[in-house]
Formats: sequence, C-alpha cells, structure tokens
Amino acid sequence: MKKFNVGIIGATGMVGQRFITLLADHPWFNIVLLAASPRSAGKKYTEAVGSRWAMKAEMPEKVKDMIMYDATADIEKIASQVDFVFCAVDMKKDEIRALEEAYAKAECPVISNNSAHRHTDDVPMIVPEINPEHAGIIEAQKKRLGTKRGFVAVKSNCSLQSYVPALHPLMKFGVKNVLACTYQAISGAGKTFETWPEMVDNVIPFIGGEEEKSEIEPLKIWGKIQDGKIVDATTPAITTQCLRVPVSDGHTAAVFVSFDKKPSIDEIKEAWKNFKGEPQDLELPSAPKQFLNYFEEDNRPQAKLDRDMEGGMAVSIGRLREDSQYDYKFVCLSHNTLRGAAGGAVLMAELLAAKGYLD
Ligand SMILES: NC(=O)c1ccc[n+]([C@@H]2O[C@H](COP(=O)([O-])OP(=O)(O)OC[C@H]3O[C@@H](n4cnc5c(N)ncnc54)[C@H](OP(=O)(O)O)[C@@H]3O)[C@@H](O)[C@H]2O)c1
Repeated sequence: MKKFNVGIIGATGMVGQRFITLLADHPWFNIVLLAASPRSAGKKYTEAVGSRWAMKAEMPEKVKDMIMYDATADIEKIASQVDFVFCAVDMKKDEIRALEEAYAKAECPVISNNSAHRHTDDVPMIVPEINPEHAGIIEAQKKRLGTKRGFVAVKSNCSLQSYVPALHPLMKFGVKNVLACTYQAISGAGKTFETWPEMVDNVIPFIGGEEEKSEIEPLKIWGKIQDGKIVDATTPAITTQCLRVPVSDGHTAAVFVSFDKKPSIDEIKEAWKNFKGEPQDLELPSAPKQFLNYFEEDNRPQAKLDRDMEGGMAVSIGRLREDSQYDYKFVCLSHNTLRGAAGGAVLMAELLAAKGYLD
C-alpha cells in the first residue's frame, strides 16, 4: 500500500489527539498537517494544546513543532498538501456541513467523526465490519458535488458502537425489538475528571441528542443503497436511554432484544464468535482479529479491564441470559474514543484506501 499524506482537522481536541496517537506510526497514513480554530492557528501544536493533552501516551515528537493551520481560512492550502483529512471539530452543525463539503469540493476527501452529515443520504456512515458496501454511494455523492475525488464519509455515534456490532450477526434471526441503556464515559464529551470535576461520584441522566442518534443511526447503517441514496432500514424498533457515568473511557450498554425467530443461547454465542467482516478478511492494519468477544464471567465486561482489548478496537460482550419481557438481555462495551471515534475513523479510512477511494 502506498503512503497517504493526511491532515487532522480539530487536532487539538479529544478526538484529534486520539488521531495523532493512532497515526504517529501508522503503516499507510502519514500526518503532514494539523488544523483547528483561529485560536490555535499559527501556534506550534504543543502551544495550541497547552494543558489539554489527555492521552496516556506522550505527545509524539513529530507533531510537537508543527504550525497549526486555520481549518476554515486555509482550506485550499490544506487540500493542496494532503491526500485526505480526518475531521473532528466542535462547531455548529451547519458550519461543519459547510466546512466538510468545502474540503470535498477542494478535491480533499473527508473522513469525519462529526454528526453533521450523518443523515445526508449520499454520505456513507460506515462501520467497516457491518456495512462496507455503503462506500458504493460515494460515486453518487461525487456526482452531486461535481468532484473527481472529493467526498465526505462519516463515522456513526460512539454510543451505538457496542450494541450495533453485537446485534448485527443476530439479524439473521429477525431482530425485532431492542431496548438499550448506555452508560457513557466522560471522554465522550471531550472531558477528563480534571476538566469536569462535577462528574466524580455522579451520574447525569441526560446527554443532549444522544438517544435520538442511538435510535436512528443504526437504521442508516442497516439501510440499503437505492437510486443514488441510502434508504434507512425500517426495523428493528430501537428505544434507548443514555446516561453519563463517572468512567474516563469506555461506553457500556445494557441491551434487551426480541426476535422473530428466537435463537438459542448457544446459537447467539456461536454467531458472535464466528462473526468477521471485510476488515478482518483484508487484514486492515487497525482491524481487531476477533471483533466480538464473549466473556463467560458474570462480572465482565468491565470498562477498566476490557475497553483496551485489541487496541480498543474490539467489542466485548457478557451476561447473555433469558429475560422475562424480551427474549434475551446482555451487556456490551466498546472504547468510545478508539472504536467509537478516532480508531473507527482510521479503520474506515483503511477500508476506503484498500478499495481505492482515496487514490
Ligand atoms: N469525544 C468522543 O468520544 C467523540 C466521539 C464521536 C464523535 N465525536 C465528535 O467529534 C467532534 C470533536 O469532539 P471532541 O470531543 O474532540 O471535542 P473537543 O475536545 O472539544 O475538541 C474540539 C476541536 O474543535 C476545534 N474547533 C472548535 N471551533 C473550531 C472552529 N471554529 N474551526 C475549527 N476548529 C474548531 C477545536 O480547536 P481549538 O483547540 O483551536 O479550539 C478542537 O480541536 C465533535 O463533533 C464530536 O461530536 C466525539
């Protein structure tokens, strides 16, 4: 695989920092440029981040002295120096939509962690193991934008990154109704316990917009391409409650599920054990070898023990048992800033690179 030059838009933020640590030694992607708001532009990366560096790993040497670009004012300059950009910014939705399309129109593909384009019907929202075929919609999007190589592809919300993968191999049994309660880490809000001390010893029962995203986005992921659009699936029926909990990293979900054709417990465990997708077949650099991991122990998965499994790219599942109102219930966990954000975006970029969309 050739080396691709990449830029990170929103490089100073929580997800941007994750991109930097994940890409520092990436075999295919080489960081050549960093951008953020006008507040950071013109500063060295270390100065722009200041005390916000929240990664356990040290800041990689190669980025420390990079001079930051202004993500909006420098679009043409940025697009001319990179093969594509990763984007994770905290801006208004309409500003993000415009920013991402401006990069695409400057012939610079955008791999986005932002939610602004998740419901644009020719923008693929890809979980690489689940709906890699949605990359096919990129041709229709390029036609709409009038571009040769520029496009936007997005990652889904971090909340669903544990239960949608767990449900996907069970779709053959006719997943009918799903209830999921998520217990979400504070890094999902771009925060640490230092910057959000109110979260110590606390639970907050509201995360703005999260329940809507958690219920609607899976239906796009399970949707089909028809006439140049992604048409959302109409089933399963999903209802959620999303809570913020005092955990640094790792979103847990307690899931209840009913089926048209109720499988046995062994059939479900077999489906999880045997599930693999294109990232595993293509041996993409960030793909976990075993995507779905079932624990027999009653007290697993635990955020602290299991979120980093396979570099934070695997999903862990446990406590599968019969329920009195639904067919089954279980608990699952995924790392929200790795699989749920930057890592998932890097894996999507690897998939798109392997399929030739980033050439
Ligand atoms: N954290 C997660 O787990 C997670 C998961 C999935 C998706 N996301 C999404 O990823 C995005 C970033 O989240 P985050 O947690 O990394 O946020 P964050 O830590 O608050 O970082 C925000 C980033 O946006 C930049 N920014 C703010 N205003 C800007 C502007 N006008 N122009 C250009 N850049 C600007 C900031 O740059 P300055 O430093 O210059 O201000 C910073 O780099 C959000 O859309 C979020 O919804 C986050």
